[in-house]
Amino acid sequence: MFRKYIFVFTVVFQICLSYSAVVKTKRVCVVGAGIAGISAARYLKEAGIDFTVYESTQYVGGTWRFDPRVGTDENGLPLHTSMYKTLRTNLPKPTMELKGFPLPEHLPSFPSWRDYYQYLQDYSKHFNILDHIKFLHNVLLIRRVGDVWRVKHQHVQTNETFEDEYDYIIIGNGHFSKPNMPNIPGEDRFKGKIIHSHDYKEPEPFRNRRVLIVGAGPSGMDIGLDVAEVSKTLVHSHHSKINFSTPFPPHYHKKPDIQEFNETGAIFKDGSYEEIDDVIYCTGFQYDIPFLDESSGLTLSPKSIVPLYRYMVNINQPSMILMGLIVRACLVVALDAQARYATALVKGNFTLPPHEEMMQEWQKRMNAIRSKGLPSSYIHILAEKEDQYYAELSEESGIQRVPPVMFKIRTQDMQAKLDNLYTYRNYVYTVIDDENFVRHEEEPAVRRGLTL
Ligand SMILES: Cc1cc2nc3c(=O)[nH]c(=O)nc-3n(C[C@H](O)[C@H](O)[C@H](O)COP(=O)(O)OP(=O)(O)OC[C@H]3O[C@@H](n4cnc5c(N)ncnc54)[C@H](O)[C@@H]3O)c2cc1C
Ligand SMILES: *[C@@H]1O[C@H](CO)[C@@H](O)[C@H](O)[C@H]1NC(C)=O
Ligand SMILES: *[C@@H]1O[C@H](CO)[C@@H](O)[C@H](O)[C@H]1NC(C)=O
Ligand SMILES: *[C@@H]1O[C@H](CO)[C@@H](O)[C@H](O)[C@H]1NC(C)=O
Ligand SMILES: *[C@@H]1O[C@H](CO)[C@@H](O)[C@H](O)[C@H]1NC(C)=O
Repeated sequence: MFRKYIFVFTVVFQICLSYSAVVKTKRVCVVGAGIAGISAARYLKEAGIDFTVYESTQYVGGTWRFDPRVGTDENGLPLHTSMYKTLRTNLPKPTMELKGFPLPEHLPSFPSWRDYYQYLQDYSKHFNILDHIKFLHNVLLIRRVGDVWRVKHQHVQTNETFEDEYDYIIIGNGHFSKPNMPNIPGEDRFKGKIIHSHDYKEPEPFRNRRVLIVGAGPSGMDIGLDVAEVSKTLVHSHHSKINFSTPFPPHYHKKPDIQEFNETGAIFKDGSYEEIDDVIYCTGFQYDIPFLDESSGLTLSPKSIVPLYRYMVNINQPSMILMGLIVRACLVVALDAQARYATALVKGNFTLPPHEEMMQEWQKRMNAIRSKGLPSSYIHILAEKEDQYYAELSEESGIQRVPPVMFKIRTQDMQAKLDNLYTYRNYVYTVIDDENFVRHEEEPAVRRGLTL
């Protein structure tokens, strides 16, 4: 009787073994628990896929958590977040929402970082993904060995290191963390303080000071106006060709690029000079994936990561996805779509084109950029191609399409920013259907209720 049970058990056990050898469970490693990582986690979980998220801090939400400190955190890691106290989103609510999880009704049209960070925490709880995240685990190295990925990670408090094997890698380590410094002559002679926007926390330290802002990207414009509220003067050095029709205050002075610094100030390319107390470099960030080596098959530089298919699939090792490297798009909506595409890929819902084909397509895009004499960083720009991108993702993978209304909202919001950077956040955008939205002005009472 007993022997019979043993026999049955052994047979069942062997069947299980051979089954798992044929239909090997796919294991997915996700790096980072920012929007990229948590949205990947949500869809991987829904699809019943075996996955682990490694996050070097003890938080979800990545850059959306404000931290008053500068430099390193309590575990000696460089502070990842670039958030500042006064920040409100620079895109309206519908374009900041992850699929099927609306931002609370009572929040203003452009929520504060605090409310948005809360939203990301709520999202992680709602979709029950916290158990899948190994917090305080810093990924040190991801190597391709044979037909698997070896992931070396370290507990940032005990220093214990681990190595695990995975079939797929989804990277969501963010790319607004490592400052891009312009290296302007005379910096070391300059007696004032120079910081990068990564370390900008709040306007107060700049009260009654003569402040120089360098760069006119989203950070330069937003931090510039933030500082101008309290500073004595606001000198803005940039070479943007954009016509800002914002009514800048009288103490705002536009300048061309900086020629050099001396002890007391900056000399600009037009020969003019300004005395300056503090400088904030809003000169952008560098791509930085320090945990990849040459076995990834990628060419990594501060300006670009190539070659990628659909702006995210590593063409030379297509079991690796790099999320959120795109610029000039509704990033949150795009990340959500990329997470669904990645999940559909792992699930086997579709297969990628052959290597040759992906390479050719990428090469064609790269050649177009080079022939226009543009820098390689343009390979990551979506801009007017954003809606087309969503259409292509869906066509290929079968995921639900990001509706065209998102791009339409972004387009109108972009115009509102060109018109007036002080007022673009006063508009509420309400989605009617996949194609249409309406815009109206927000009640001042809603704005007064902002929790900054
Ligand atoms: C100041 C600022 C304002 C912004 N405003 C907007 C806005 O209004 N609207 C908008 O759509 N976008 C905005 N963005 C863009 C923003 O980056 C995205 O909204 C989004 O946060 C990107 O998410 P992510 O997951 O790709 O990266 P992140 O949020 O940067 O998250 C990356 C995570 O990976 C972790 N990590 C990194 N390396 C490792 C490692 N080796 N091992 C383990 N974990 C690691 C980090 O700790 C972090 O938690 C803003 C960005 C900044 C910096
Ligand atoms: C971990 O390593 C850091 C840096 O080398 C060191 O300062 C720290 O004391 C170590 N912690 C432990 C628990 O060993
Ligand atoms: C910006 O405005 C100036 C003056 O109004 C005009 O000459 C120029 O063509 C405009 N540039 C762009 C890019 O629209
Ligand atoms: C810095 O350069 C300006 C312009 O040439 C000059 O007026 C100023 O005196 C210089 N400052 C110092 C400390 O040399
Ligand atoms: C994969 O395809 C199945 C069947 O069509 C579908 O139900 C599922 O949602 C798809 N998964 C993803 C992540 O697209």
